[in-house]
Amino acid sequence: DPEAIVAAVFDVLGATAGGEPPGDLAGRTVLVTAGGTREPICPVRFLGNRSSGRQGHALAAEAASRGAVVDCVTTQPGSAPVGPGIRIIPVETAAEMADAVVGLAAEADVVLMAAAVADFRPVGVAARKIKKEGGVPEIRLEPTMDILAALGRCRRPGQVLVGFAAETDDLRQNAEAKLRAKGVDLIVANDVSAPGVGFEHETNAVVVLDDAGGVVEVPLADKREVARAVVDAALARLRDDRSPNGDDT
Ligand code: CTP
Repeated sequence: DPEAIVAAVFDVLGATAGGEPPGDLAGRTVLVTAGGTREPICPVRFLGNRSSGRQGHALAAEAASRGAVVDCVTTQPGSAPVGPGIRIIPVETAAEMADAVVGLAAEADVVLMAAAVADFRPVGVAARKIKKEGGVPEIRLEPTMDILAALGRCRRPGQVLVGFAAETDDLRQNAEAKLRAKGVDLIVANDVSAPGVGFEHETNAVVVLDDAGGVVEVPLADKREVARAVVDAALARLRDDRSPNGDDT
């Protein structure tokens, strides 16, 4: 793709010119999830959500531009960023995302869990298209694994875990509850009912909460700008030796 060629050229120029300072994430591995999972009902239909993957992809691009090696597990590989340092791992379902993320998380210094993961999936997938002549179908659901909570229970010391919370009500209270319940360092919360915020928009507005009560407000901005603020907060946390898990770099 043209973007990959351009990115590779810049990479080579930067390396040979020697003038570019190394990014502040050089030597770090960042795992990003992006997009909404699709849980199949039959070969034709699925349960999904409105996530476009844009915020997750902006996070992957931002981390890579700052020198990180990025693994991007995404349900939207066709619109994922390309370039040196970014590996795209395409997935569709919550179970596929869980497998990919759990496998990669052990190596990650930072995990940015921006994907909108289904909480429930149909019990079994119909082998054939469900026809309307059969009447209103009864689709039974079962819970999926909470990937972020699982990472929160078994992460390695020094790893920074960042969750996301898309809310329509009681933004701060819900986000704080998720921060504690999932055992993460930071939670990035947005009110998806506000104009220009979240799903299917080029812009976002978030509040970043940390487990020590710190709050950073990021007003409505391009998703790449928001990604910059989130990566800044994660990097500050990575360097923060106050954290019981933190390293001292
Ligand atoms: N998440 C996850 N696995 C799930 C559901 C959510 O890893 N099965 C992660 C999301 O990627 C996000 C965070 O948990 O980083 C919060 O997701 P969200 O959908 O806002 O919260 P839920 O825990 O699903 O709660 P609710 O849907 O009731 O708000």
